[in-house]
Parts: sequence; structure tokens; C-alpha cells
Amino acid sequence: MFGKKRKTGESLAGLENMIACNTKISSIIDDRLTYCGYDIGEFMDNNASFDEVIYLLWNGHLPTQIELNYFRKELAANSKISDAVEQCLLIQSRKHLHPMSVLRSTVSLLGVYNLNAEMLTSEAIYEQCIQIQANMPTLIAAFSRLRKGLDPIDPRDDLDFAANFLYMLNGEEPSATQVKALNRALILHADHELNASTFAARVCASTMSDIYSCVTTAIGTLKGPLHGGANEQVFEMLKEIRDSDGDVATYLQSKLDANELIMGFGHRVYKTVDPRQKYLKEMADELTRGTEDEIWYQLSLEVEDYIRNAKGLIPNVDFYSATVYHALGIDSALFTLIFAMSRVSGWIAHVKEQKTKNRLIRPRSEYVGLSGLEYEPINVR
Ligand code: ACO
Repeated sequence: MFGKKRKTGESLAGLENMIACNTKISSIIDDRLTYCGYDIGEFMDNNASFDEVIYLLWNGHLPTQIELNYFRKELAANSKISDAVEQCLLIQSRKHLHPMSVLRSTVSLLGVYNLNAEMLTSEAIYEQCIQIQANMPTLIAAFSRLRKGLDPIDPRDDLDFAANFLYMLNGEEPSATQVKALNRALILHADHELNASTFAARVCASTMSDIYSCVTTAIGTLKGPLHGGANEQVFEMLKEIRDSDGDVATYLQSKLDANELIMGFGHRVYKTVDPRQKYLKEMADELTRGTEDEIWYQLSLEVEDYIRNAKGLIPNVDFYSATVYHALGIDSALFTLIFAMSRVSGWIAHVKEQKTKNRLIRPRSEYVGLSGLEYEPINVR
């Protein structure tokens, strides 16, 4: 298991509940999450596609069919990665790098190979955003295959975002259930007001830096296990529980007694329910029922029950998404990359919003160190 509990008492630590910007992109009010005014349940109930939600976050309104067709064409036309980028992925796949480090470096590399990467016209920035959003699934799927010694598979322009990713990842057309599950997971991870990685992206944008810098800043921030990295740790925990004869209570209590964090539980904003969790839980059930992966769902139910009773903590978005991703054939080391592939749509929307009415984000710190010291020459220290 990962991590020790922090010490409490630092009053400003974590900027808890502090409002740092205005946004029209997403909101969390009374444990409800909305994107541009739509409750996330609207997208779930109406089987929205992730492409539609990207369009919504970037434009502030849902696309018409014509707008969506055009947007999909733009994504498809920009989804292939260059041979140079693929070669770099191959080299990185042979090293012991965490896949999130590979993603961070490779997104940065996209800017190296885009001749217009330093152009700041609105057309050039839009093209850069489309390139990053469209390339992310291709490079994640390619990296996943290269790590296994398999050849990458080219994207197809007749599949939507979620279906295309699963096709490139697994080499076969996904089932309707799999596409629905990934579409839902991508939508649920797309934006979340001022989470740590989005804040990091906005800070970077506020210095008037470029979009590649903003997105790589955000990827580095998402990587940490207190944020997006928790989903990978959740699956490691489930594996450890299975390998310790499945005694959930003994395993978890020993972690709690050792003051360790239980990954996938707790949230800075949500205290009674994470509204994304119920959909992910339903999907985990639907995808695994009657399959050999059902054990992960059953163990997750037991973990949720125990941690709720023992600590009063709620499962967050990362908890059931671990089982969903595993059931979709995704390696646990790549779970946080799937999060990034979705959240990049929100990062881009926030960077755009930040730049529209920009002011440098530069807070102050309260100095609590020593003062008035006199310099002593090194030979008398
Ligand atoms: N396991 C054990 N104890 C926990 C957990 C947990 N997962 N989460 C919170 N606690 C404890 C804290 O240690 C704290 O105890 P203390 O008062 O005795 O020190 C108490 O509960 C209250 O914690 P909060 O103030 O709610 O914690 P905070 O808002 O600082 O942190 C966070 C929120 C980082 C998500 C935390 O719950 C955590 O570390 N969870 C595990 C990692 C995780 O799942 N991260 C993903 C979050 S969702 C996302 O970013 C996509």
C-alpha cells in the first residue's frame, strides 16, 4: 500500500475551500457535478458520447449533428502519431519508466514535432489542442502494445473516440458494452472544477505559456497517488487482498492501524457521496458479472463496506474505475493514462478559459522561518 497519513494542523495547507477562479466549465454543488450546466447524470441517462462532451467543454454548448460530425472528422484527421513519436515510445517502452512519465514526455514531444507549436494565433492554438486530444489515445494504445512486444495499430476514422481507443489497444473491435463503459468512464473523468491538475494547468496558462507546457504540467500533477495515480494503487490493493487469501477485514485493519491511506477513498470536496462513483460501480458490475473478473468487483464491495464502517470514508472516482479499466483489458500501470486521456479535454477547456480573461496566478506565502540571522564565514560555522 502507498502513503502515510499527513500531519494535521497547517491552517493554510491544501488551500481547502478557497475560491481561486471563476469558471463556466464545471461545478460541484451539493455533491452534484455539472458540465456547462448539465448534470453528469444527463450524459449517462442519454448515452452521450465522449466526443460530444469534449465539444461541450471546449465550446460551452452541445454540438448539433453537423458540428459533431465535423469535430469527429477533425479528431480523426489528427489521430495518427508520427513515426518519430512512435520510435520514442518504443525506446521508452524498454526502460523502467512509469507510463505516466512516458505520457508526460511524449505529449511534450508532440510539441517538438509540430512546426506550429510556438504559434499563438487562435487557429494555431486550436490545431494544437485538437492534435493533443486526438493523439493521446493513439500514443497510449501504441505504448501499451509496444511494452508487450506488439506492433501499434493505426487509428480508424469510422469509430468514435472510445471505440477507436479500445480497437487500437486490443486489436479487435470492442463490444457495444465495452464501448458504452469506456464512453461513460471518459465522460465522468472529463472535468472536475479546480482539481489539482486543472489548477496546475491554469497556473501555467496564466503565465501565458503554450498549451504543450500546460498539459505536461497537468499530467505531472495527475500522476501523484493522492490524485489520479490512486486508481492504479486501488488495483494493487485488490491484488494484495486476493493474494492474502481474500481476508478483507484483516488486510484493511492492518493498513488502518499502520496509519496508511486506503487508495480510492476520501475526497477533498465530496464528504457524503462522489456522484461519479455510482455509475462506475454499475459498470464494474455489468462488465464483470459471470466472468473471471467478477472477483475484483466482489472484493471492491467488501472493501467499500469495511472502510465506510471503520472510517466513514466514501469511495471516490478512482475506486471502481480500477475494476472497469481492468475488465476492458487495460493494464493497471496504464490506468492513470486513461484518466489523463479524458481529463485533457477539461485541462484544455480551462486553459482556454484562463487565457480569455487572464491575470497571472501568483499567491503569497506566509513566512514562518527564522529571521535576523547574521552571516558567518564558512570557516567558523
Ligand atoms: N485512507 C485513510 N484515511 C484517510 C483517507 C484514506 N483514503 N482519506 C482521508 N483520510 C483521513 C485523513 O488522514 C484525515 O485523518 P486525520 O484527521 O486523522 O489526519 C481525515 O481522514 C480527513 O481527511 P481529509 O481532510 O478529508 O483529507 P484531504 O481533503 O486532505 O485529502 C484525499 C483528500 C487526498 C483525496 C485523501 O482522502 C486521500 O489521500 N485519499 C486517498 C488517495 C485517493 O484516493 N486519491 C484520489 C482522490 S480523487 C482524485 O483526485 C481523482
